Amino acid sequence: MPVTILIGAQWGDEGKGRVVDWMASSADIVARFAGGDNAGHTVALDKDVYKLHHIPSGILHENVVSIMGNGMVVNPVNLLREMDLLREQGVEIRPERLILSSRAHIITPAHIALDEAREVSLGDAKIGTTLRGIGPAYLDKTGRSGIRTGDMLLDIETFAERLTDGIEAANEVLAQQGMETLNPAEAAESYLEAALKLRPFIKDASTYLYQALRAGKNVICEGAQGTLLDIDHGSYPYVTSSSPTAGGALTGLGIGPLFVERVLGVAKAFSTRVGGGPMPTELDGTVAQHLRGSGANFWDEFGTTTGRPRRCGWLDIVMLRYGVSVNGLSELMLTKMDVLSGLDELKLAVAYEIDGERSEYPPVTNEQLDRAVPIYECLSGWREDISGCRSFDELPAAARRYIARVSELCEIPINTVSVGPEREQLVANVVKQV
Ligand code: GDP
Ligand code: IMO
Ligand code: MG
Repeated sequence: MPVTILIGAQWGDEGKGRVVDWMASSADIVARFAGGDNAGHTVALDKDVYKLHHIPSGILHENVVSIMGNGMVVNPVNLLREMDLLREQGVEIRPERLILSSRAHIITPAHIALDEAREVSLGDAKIGTTLRGIGPAYLDKTGRSGIRTGDMLLDIETFAERLTDGIEAANEVLAQQGMETLNPAEAAESYLEAALKLRPFIKDASTYLYQALRAGKNVICEGAQGTLLDIDHGSYPYVTSSSPTAGGALTGLGIGPLFVERVLGVAKAFSTRVGGGPMPTELDGTVAQHLRGSGANFWDEFGTTTGRPRRCGWLDIVMLRYGVSVNGLSELMLTKMDVLSGLDELKLAVAYEIDGERSEYPPVTNEQLDRAVPIYECLSGWREDISGCRSFDELPAAARRYIARVSELCEIPINTVSVGPEREQLVANVVKQV
């Protein structure tokens, strides 16, 4: 049973990319199953920083095949740009190493325009999307009018016609909202060029994966976004339009559950969120500034895709417990422990008080969530720089207690924590010692 599903256990940006990169040295295949270029996965390797949006983080390992699965939505033009940027950084991008599922859906210029139009029309209630056209692309998919990557293998005139039809339909909606409309032929032009270039990468990824799994290959399913942004399990409507939870890995790649051996959740040692929606432990002031950083370091809390400052707060155990449950996590990994250094006191939201009642799990409605007051447990902080620690014993006692307490409160083993963005900045074998 060689499949590991790796999931973001919070609101995204937990450090999934860096964890996949670390694990990929013992993998044969790394496969993305949800989202599109709304994702931004950062991998730091010996002073080089790679930013991945569509392409799995496994691409940095020579012997790994990377797959973009059917559950994804793909912007062909941006994907080509991403390939070119990686090539400039010395990464080899060839069809033998990178497969694009023929069943993934295409994000068109119309989807991007509609994403913006919808956000404008929502005013203060906007979702705060990444404006990458994600929602409208999934809407067309479920509405059975989407264009699939496999359609790029058709004769180019037919593909062009599908694109321009979609853009014309979107123009009607844009015009109704008083937004600027698109010139269909012009908008489609760069897509036609991209389609021709992407053709060699397009394959039946599910069959490829099945054969690989039958041959005993190791597969990592790389989650994008996070549990609390899931279309079903997140704080709807302040979510993305796909299924970034463990179940999404199966449908988003076309693999069966019996192949799955581990479901690893990645959580940041504190909470962050970009975009709108409830976040009970959100802070402002000096602690938030400490957690966010100034923006001077690439790992500071500013969006990889949009550059937006991320909202920051204490670790929300209520949400994390929920992430453990809806994904059936087998273990948790904590990232960015080093960022907590220098805070005298650390807080964990162990429950919420809602209308006078204590709740250990998130409430059903956002209205209740808006009224949720976190009940905090306070722990001592530590002052030492822990970015050089490589074993559990080397961590300050307060850091060891923090990890142990999170594990205890979530009732899940924590095997590994990260103490810096570089591949080797990890403390493994924690579980045996907490
Ligand atoms: P992803 O979307 O889940 O892959 O996460 P992002 O790449 O969007 O954001 C995580 C950021 O934290 C990236 O800049 C990583 O390089 C950085 N990062 C990951 N783990 C650590 C860590 O342990 N310490 C520090 N300081 N940065 C980290
Ligand atoms: P990674 O994979 C953090 C958020 C957006 C917005 C909501 C909907 O890097 O963790 P969308 O553009 O998907 O329609 O936006 O989801 N969002 C993310 N937040 N990390 C991500 O990806 C995200 N992808 C989408 O900010 O709140
Ligand atoms: Mg990210």
